[in-house]
Amino acid sequence: MRAVELFCGAGGMSRGFIDAGIDVIRAYDAWTAAVETYRRNVGGHVRQADLADVLSVVPEITALTPDLIFGGPPCQDYSTAGKRIEGRNASLTVAFAIIVATVRPEWFVMENVVRAHKSEAWTKAQQILRRAGYGFSVSKVNAAYYGVPQNRRRLLVVGRLGERDGFLESAIASAAAERPMTLRDLFEAKSPDAVFLPARNGARCSVWSADELMPTIRSASGRPLPEGYVAHSADAALIQNGYIYSRPVRAGRGVRSIDEPFPTVTRTSWERAGPRYLANPNPGDPVCASAVAQLTFRQIARIQGFPENWEWPKTSRQHQMQMIANAVPPPVSKVVGTIILSRHMGNDIPAVQGRFLEWLVGRGRSRAVARNVKANLNRARRLLGGRTFVEPALEIHTLETSEQFQCMSAGTKSDLRQALRLYAEYLAQKQATERNPRDRNINIFKRASTEVGVPDRMADAALTGDGNTPCHVAAA
Ligand SMILES: C[S@@+](CC[C@H](N)C(=O)[O-])C[C@H]1O[C@@H](n2cnc3c(N)ncnc32)[C@H](O)[C@@H]1O
Repeated sequence: MRAVELFCGAGGMSRGFIDAGIDVIRAYDAWTAAVETYRRNVGGHVRQADLADVLSVVPEITALTPDLIFGGPPCQDYSTAGKRIEGRNASLTVAFAIIVATVRPEWFVMENVVRAHKSEAWTKAQQILRRAGYGFSVSKVNAAYYGVPQNRRRLLVVGRLGERDGFLESAIASAAAERPMTLRDLFEAKSPDAVFLPARNGARCSVWSADELMPTIRSASGRPLPEGYVAHSADAALIQNGYIYSRPVRAGRGVRSIDEPFPTVTRTSWERAGPRYLANPNPGDPVCASAVAQLTFRQIARIQGFPENWEWPKTSRQHQMQMIANAVPPPVSKVVGTIILSRHMGNDIPAVQGRFLEWLVGRGRSRAVARNVKANLNRARRLLGGRTFVEPALEIHTLETSEQFQCMSAGTKSDLRQALRLYAEYLAQKQATERNPRDRNINIFKRASTEVGVPDRMADAALTGDGNTPCHVAAA
């Protein structure tokens, strides 16, 4: 699978996609420091370009014939930290859509802050992509469930030509871990026991890893860590201490236990607790902010999923932190890339949505027959290589072109076609219901009726008129 990245930054998203086995053949960004970082760590296929000038890149991307275009257009215009007025940056989301719609790769992936979902720019981008023939899978993912110890909620839109909406959502949801990753999960294995040996001078390190050469042992050696100890950035105290400070956003907590994920990494995450915070700390802080470990820049880069040996060019700390904060954590994009690649290769199929079985039972099938229909649906989907189609007729036509299908008996072929038709009918009804709240209530009632064993025709009869008269049936 050959891919092009737009707005590649330092290369977090590319790194994960490459680790998943996707061949990233070109990447673009306008920022010199980001392009330089990408070149050093990911590869020489990166180019510096202003993507607002769509025409300057479309011909060369088209010539590359990628299967996938991915990227995270800049988000400051949408993020809670920004001014919330959609401006030039938001228009780059539209530029992303125009490039994708013009090049028309089979797939696209767009990552952004969750707030972008409600923006005008995304509405416009969606129209462009929809008209170009893409179906959407929209997920809101928290990075802490996808391989980094960080509560980072992001919007992830995956598009594929001709696909039915929601086609990848079940795969992305089922890849989430059962519990969020914590700082201890990331650091503990690597952090040996720490030893407190108070330095003579406050500016020097006082906590040493058991793997380090000790300073000269003095009479003070071996005392417990004092209450008000201000951690030195080079201390190996992270685990010993059990708490870290992270500059709070929107009056949140400044102190976190290492048994929690870190909050979203921002470009100010590395700042120390200043006198203002110390004078007025968040009441939820479990211990005093002055007594906890301060994460180093490198530790923060690791929380964002960058490997330890990532080379950051010699630029200001602010710029380095900006690149880190901008990135999609590589472990997260690796999971997403693996899912996409697996579907692209036809190795997995989407889960059957909603209550298809109950719907079939409601239409008079026995449970055993309904289960059979579902099994046939999954079988047909495997023959389709996990593809779903907006048009049921096209879905059946594609199924019929499969060699395996052609070798099946007439009865089996008919069962598979029928399963696809029934599921398409079910989804169409489900969609119409979701658009219409009255239908939604009727559906809830029908589901309840099915569950207590009321036959479908009785439930239908009870639902004549304004839809609010089913009580006598429910009572029955
Ligand atoms: C959210 S960051 C992308 C981070 C990247 N996905 C990663 O994982 O590292 C957005 C990037 O868009 C770039 N950018 C902003 N305006 C641009 C423009 N007009 N043309 C190209 N790149 C631009 C910024 O330099 C920044 O690196």
